[in-house]
Amino acid sequence: MGCSVALYPILRSFAFALDAERAHRATIAALKLLPAGRPATSDPLLSVQVAGLDFPNPVGLAAGFDKDAEVFGQMLGFGFGFVEVGTLSPLPQAGNPRPRLFRLAEDEAVINRMGFNNAGQAAALQRLAARRRGGLVGVNLGANKDRASGDAAIADYSAGVVAMTGVADYLTINISSPNTPGLRGLQDEGALDALLAAIIEVRGAGPPIFLKVAPDLEPAQVDAIARTALERKLDGLIVGNTTLSRPSLRSTYREEAGGLSGTPLKRLALARLRDFRSATSGELPLIAAGGIASGEDAFERIRAGASLIQLYTALVYHGPGLARQINRELKRLLADHGFARLTDAIGTEKRGAC
Ligand SMILES: Cc1cc2nc3c(=O)[nH]c(=O)nc-3n(C[C@H](O)[C@H](O)[C@H](O)COP(=O)(O)O)c2cc1C
Repeated sequence: MGCSVALYPILRSFAFALDAERAHRATIAALKLLPAGRPATSDPLLSVQVAGLDFPNPVGLAAGFDKDAEVFGQMLGFGFGFVEVGTLSPLPQAGNPRPRLFRLAEDEAVINRMGFNNAGQAAALQRLAARRRGGLVGVNLGANKDRASGDAAIADYSAGVVAMTGVADYLTINISSPNTPGLRGLQDEGALDALLAAIIEVRGAGPPIFLKVAPDLEPAQVDAIARTALERKLDGLIVGNTTLSRPSLRSTYREEAGGLSGTPLKRLALARLRDFRSATSGELPLIAAGGIASGEDAFERIRAGASLIQLYTALVYHGPGLARQINRELKRLLADHGFARLTDAIGTEKRGAC
């Protein structure tokens, strides 16, 4: 994989000449030509146990890059401690009309309104079942369009849990994508409690379950989600998805509808992580995502309470060497701050009253 890392600046200029979705498809096609890489070995300084799983390092690939579970083996070979595939809905669906993916290069950001385009759970299941090498792979679950509320949503998520239980190291319940109308309504306390109760029941002795939330939440919503997640004994929260808000942006694509990710999301995602840390009193593992592009960013989230981090957009701008680079930088930062191991740094941020 070393060669593709060194060539990234050249590959990037070709990819950036294409429209963003074509570039992504070309990237997946190229990755499929590579053999699966060797998954990261456990790093004595960076390994962390969450929900009973041993993560070799804390840097994960966020959902949406490998929606159909085609290249998780290759991505594990780039040094990620875990890869999350999906979002997968029970049935295949085309997603929203194109264009629906925009690169905001001046802002190191992306706006997407993909709308859960995916080839469905059955196709992904086959590939996941044929997995040979180790490495941790999580499966992110969604509902089909027009089934994003009420009993239909519960049925779709439950079907996902049942289908993927045998092949996933963990499952993520994604109720926070902004591009499926009604989906974020599942974050409301009553709807969430009914959904989680059903899912926990069908999961039985299956894999850990994480809940992925939006960064666009009011304090009362954060409290209600934290309470429900703790009561239903979820295994962790992923904080979080893309934002519908628009911090100041320079790119001409800034008015496009959809979820914003990358550098402009960083402050909001960190603020929400801190909110969830205090709302859960550190009793629930937190996985941070949103605008993480460096070891400094990862370290800041870890100190704010995250046990693991995930990224996607920074990969577009910095290339496949990023996971290894962040892990290297994390080790240096841990040493600089006098921490013997990453686990010693989790949640150590001291925040003043003012
Ligand atoms: C093109 C694109 C597609 C995405 N698709 C999904 C998805 O299917 N499911 C999901 O849970 N998150 C999805 N996300 C959100 C990411 O997993 C992540 O939560 C978000 O982008 C913030 O992290 P980042 O700033 O590092 O990209 C997607 C993000 C992007 C940019």
